Order: sequence, then C-alpha cells, then structure tokens
Amino acid sequence: MRSLLFVPGDSERKLEKALQADADVLILDLEDSVAMSAKPKAREVTAAFLRDHAKADAMRLYVRVNDLGTGLTDDDLAAVMRGRPAGIMLPKANSADDVTLLAARLRVHEAEHGIEDGATRILPLITETAAGLLAAATHANSNPRVSGLTWGAEDLSAAVGARSARDASGTYTPLFQHARTMTLLAASAAGVAAVDTVYPDFRNEAGFRRQCEEAERDGFSAKMAIHPAQVPIINEVFTPSAEALAQARRVVEAFAAAGDAGVVAIDGKMYDRPHLRLAERLLARAKTG
Ligand code: COA
Ligand code: MG
Repeated sequence: MRSLLFVPGDSERKLEKALQADADVLILDLEDSVAMSAKPKAREVTAAFLRDHAKADAMRLYVRVNDLGTGLTDDDLAAVMRGRPAGIMLPKANSADDVTLLAARLRVHEAEHGIEDGATRILPLITETAAGLLAAATHANSNPRVSGLTWGAEDLSAAVGARSARDASGTYTPLFQHARTMTLLAASAAGVAAVDTVYPDFRNEAGFRRQCEEAERDGFSAKMAIHPAQVPIINEVFTPSAEALAQARRVVEAFAAAGDAGVVAIDGKMYDRPHLRLAERLLARAKTG
C-alpha cells in the first residue's frame, strides 16, 4: 500500500475515473467531501460501486464513514458492509477506544453478511481532534484490524482555531509537525503502516513531490491523494528504487557472510544492527508492494 486516493462517494463519475488511477487503495468517501444533504445518495452510490467491483477490486476498496460522534456511522456501515469493503477509514478518532468501538460494530456486520471475522481492516485518522492528537499514543497497542495510521491537518486546524497549518515558506507549524510525528511514532510502535496526509494544492506538482519525498525519507510508507494526478508521483516516490534495494541486499548479505556479527564494513563505512534492520525493512516493503 503506497497510494490511497480519496474519491467523493456521491460522484459516480469520479468513482469510475478513480479505477483507472493506478492507486493501491481507493477511499470511497462518505464524510467531509460529501454535503450533509447528499449523504443518503452517497451511501447508495458507494454501495452500488462496491457491489459492482467487489470481486475485481475488493482488496483495495476502503470506505471513509462519518465519525462516531455524528450519529451517521451506523447508517453508513449498514449501507456499505454488504459490499465487503477491504477496510473502513475512521475519521476524527479520539483514541484507540474509538477503534475498538468500530471493530465491535464491524464484527456484527461481518457475521450478518458471511464475511470472515476480522477481515475488514481499519485505518484511523488519529490527529483530527485535539483529544485524538493527545491520545495518539493509545494507538501503539493496536487492534489487529488496524492496517495503518494516518493524520489530517485541516480538521485539526478547525478544532484548535489555527488559521493555517503552514508558515509563509510552506513548512508545517509546530502543532502540525507534532501531529505528523506522533502518527509516525504510533504507527511504528504498533507495527503498522504510517500513511502521510493529503496535499490539498493539487495543481502544485513540485510542492507535492517534495512533500512525498520528505514523508518517505522520514519513515512514512504511503500517502493519501485527493486527485488522480497525484497517484503516479506517490507510487514512484514510495517504491524503493533499484539502487536502494541493491544496497539493502548488500547490507543483508554482508551481515550473513560475517556470521553472528554486530557490525560490518562495506566500502569503508560502518554498518551495525540498526542498518541491518533498516535494510530488512526496505526489502520487506518491496516484497509486499
Ligand atoms: N477521484 C477520481 N476522479 C477525480 C478525482 C478523484 N479524487 N479528482 C478529480 N477527478 C477527475 C475529475 O472528475 C476530472 O474528470 P472529468 O473531467 O472527466 O470529469 C479529472 O479527474 C480532472 O479533474 P480536475 O478538473 O483536474 O479537478 P476537478 O476540479 O474536477 O476536481 C477536486 C478537483 C478537488 C474537487 C477533486 O479532485 C476531488 O473531488 N478530490 C477529492 C476530494 C476528497 O475526497 N476530499 C476528502 C479527503 S481530504
Ligand atoms: Mg476531514
């Protein structure tokens, strides 16, 4: 999972277009990209799309439901679960308790529709509320359904009253850097994918590429997109390069050749156990895609 493309769940046109986007995951959105008056239509359109594509694309269709505080979540789940989505994105999660609550509901729907218990994954947005960001560490003990953790800047801005998430140079202000960092740490502690947030300025390709590169450098293994044009850039940046893989193989081989060594030298540079773990991680990522 490298690229996750948001698609407004009430737009048949965008849903059809999204299938050609080469995204690893599509997030069919019932939440913030859908007006309140369009929620019933979005449920219908999304359920029909899931039904039509359940077989071919089941592995990669997630649905973003409305958060647990809205009173809309149960109607969302009732509409989409028969379509066997691969996962549910949970927005505005206030702590891991919200994940537990969603997991309990999913279990009931799975039983009802003959879906294997636990098959539906959960991808929580963990920094969209102040409480959620304060409780980010609770996700370290992750529910087995959790496939990754991700974060959002827009809702957090609205929650705390920050007029912008970035300074004049485009760099995240400290609050948003903190949210991003907590997501990385919680995902790493939980042993799940760290998924970087969206880049709303979708015509700015250079800025987007830079943000992808920074996310990949820092340990994120995937990024969310809001426009199909962002998908190939994410896929390119988050696919380990041939050179990086070759170097990782050299490190693994050097340790294997050295037997039970704690440290080896390659081309006059020291490599110890953390380098080995990093190399193994990269090779594992290349394998799972
Ligand atoms: N998924 C699928 N198709 C999309 C798409 C998306 N996220 N975003 C744009 N497209 C399609 C458009 O429908 C258009 O196709 P068409 O001309 O055949 O109708 C084509 O890609 C080019 O789109 P473009 O004209 O460049 O953008 P736009 O002005 O139509 O749309 C947005 C801009 C931001 C409204 C749109 O990209 C969008 O809806 N993004 C998703 C928003 C979302 O889900 N937000 C919630 C998470 S933050
Ligand atoms: Mg939102």
